[in-house]
Amino acid sequence: HEINWTLEMAEKQGYPHFMLKEIHEQPKAVKEAIYGNLETIDQVAKEIAKYEKIFVVAMGTSYHAGIAAKYLFQRLANKPVLVEEASEFRYEFENIVDENSLVIAITQSGETADTLAAIRLAKKKGAKVLSIVNVVGSMATRLSDLVIYTHAGPEIGVAATKTYTTQLTVLTMLAIALAKILNTVDEDYLKKLEAELLELPRYIEAVLGYENKIKSLADELVDRRDFFYIGRGISVATALEGALKLKEISYIHAEGLSAGELKHGPLALIEEGVPVVAIAPSGKTFDKMVSNIQEVNARKGLVISLGDNEELEKVSEVFLKMPKIDELLSPVVYIVPLQLLAYHLAVLRGNDPDKPRNLAKSVTVE
Ligand code: G6P
Repeated sequence: HEINWTLEMAEKQGYPHFMLKEIHEQPKAVKEAIYGNLETIDQVAKEIAKYEKIFVVAMGTSYHAGIAAKYLFQRLANKPVLVEEASEFRYEFENIVDENSLVIAITQSGETADTLAAIRLAKKKGAKVLSIVNVVGSMATRLSDLVIYTHAGPEIGVAATKTYTTQLTVLTMLAIALAKILNTVDEDYLKKLEAELLELPRYIEAVLGYENKIKSLADELVDRRDFFYIGRGISVATALEGALKLKEISYIHAEGLSAGELKHGPLALIEEGVPVVAIAPSGKTFDKMVSNIQEVNARKGLVISLGDNEELEKVSEVFLKMPKIDELLSPVVYIVPLQLLAYHLAVLRGNDPDKPRNLAKSVTVE
């Protein structure tokens, strides 16, 4: 009897690609990230609470998790945070980083050359280094003073998915733990955030249910040449990451930007039918986002909005209703439909999303 199942097919567990499998693994991965760190996060937070100068260094998708971290730490713990691409940090921050600094390195693989170089610089200058890593025992874990694991399990697809949402999860936990120690926000608010954090796997499960809707959206948009992704506050991270996913695997030009920048240039590129994905959870700047959406509509751009406020339906061509969740936790959930959109566009365009051209899972050269 001939066995015509390859090892790879078995590993994909019925999914056509690792990327799709990994997107669907996110409820479980986020759950592991939460429960795998529940008991230790306070200890790490205690150690880092005394640092005033906080840097975050990372590349690619991990860098976008860093952008979200900036908003989390600033809003919840009143700590200003500088987020830098590790490739810049290593050359430009030698005179800024010192023994009063905490450097948080975010890296899925723990082997990215630029991120390792940034860690080495930080250590040389006497800074404390905390790494947020997925791969156990990787170089970053060996160079750092403190390590938090994301517990996402192995990620085979080149485009990061479950490792991103688990990075966001542990960064959120860390910011909440810091806020508790530093007493920077209202206790009831923290309790609400903690309760919502535990619900994240369920919320992700719910938005995965949009897959068919997203597939037909991808059918409709398969020939568009440019996409824009806009957001404000912590949703800037989602805008950047949504655009990166599209570029990486579908090879469609995409830009992610803060919605406030729209009228300072990019709006000139919006014409009839240009897709603009608006990430608009309820929060501080919701009304401003609605104004930005209207600017796009005035130029006949095609607005796809993600949010929990039904008002968006009136100003959007496509509206994806998202679970009602605090703005600060929203990136973990809101990125999921955008991963699916990039995936289905890539497949429709005949690309292999697991092995995008010119890209590597881990960039170990400078
Ligand atoms: C490569 C991968 C990206 C990843 C980046 C940083 O470019 O293709 O998906 O985000 O490296 O990798 P790291 O392992 O440091 O998170």
